[in-house]
Amino acid sequence: MTVAAVITAAGSGTRLGAHSPDGTAPKVPVPKALVPLEGRALVAWAASRIADVAERIVVTAPPLAVDAVRSALVEAGVDALVVPGGDTRQASVAAGLRALMLDPDDIVLIHDAARAFQPTEVMAATIDAVHAGADGAIPVLPVVDTLIGAPGPDGVIGDPVDREGLRAVQTPQTFRARVALDAHRVAEAHGTPPATDDATLARALGHRIVAVDGHEWGFKVTRPSDLPLARHIAQSLSG
Ligand code: CTP
Ligand code: MG
Repeated sequence: MTVAAVITAAGSGTRLGAHSPDGTAPKVPVPKALVPLEGRALVAWAASRIADVAERIVVTAPPLAVDAVRSALVEAGVDALVVPGGDTRQASVAAGLRALMLDPDDIVLIHDAARAFQPTEVMAATIDAVHAGADGAIPVLPVVDTLIGAPGPDGVIGDPVDREGLRAVQTPQTFRARVALDAHRVAEAHGTPPATDDATLARALGHRIVAVDGHEWGFKVTRPSDLPLARHIAQSLSG
């Protein structure tokens, strides 16, 4: 039984909209995973933290950036196998799971490179929950905003939603390997619309997924306004 991890880093980062530095020509888009923070690519921050809890790591990279992601990881001293991802996050996770060649009794963490600063304590809590008998475990946080139904075409808002009964979901999402493999096999076979997380797929098959406390540092770097906080955390970890 080993603890292994898939890091999904194959997205393009459209909402972040990063480009090569000013003064370089031609100016080209940079995948989110390769955005540098304190001299280290986002994916390398994620991988170096998960290396504290996982013995084997597979990183899924944008197909045209496999070599660049590999170099970023080598530069950060992280030992990981880099494979091309798919068109959706779900397809990238499936590619990563295949590359890990898991034993059914292994434990596997599925983690977004974009959540590069999730503390290792949160990762360890998800692993402990699976050791304790859960089929899977995910970090969650209370929702801070007031929630309502989306407005109709007339602009009139919908019903309020009770946020006390809701949680926001983070990664790593951690499973007994047979559960993650089963969930992705069934999802692939049914060709259902891709899920944005893995626990949803596993839960749909009746697996028991439990929650652990997430952390505000486990936020997903998504938009340019997320970068100052990411940089601040990277600085505090480097200092
Ligand atoms: N991801 C992936 N393969 C895809 C799409 C996304 O591995 N085909 C990964 C991303 O690299 C990211 C995580 O899934 O680490 C969560 O996705 P998201 O935050 O949406 O990242 P992007 O898809 O890169 O961003 P955007 O949607 O703004 O383009
Ligand atoms: Mg995306």
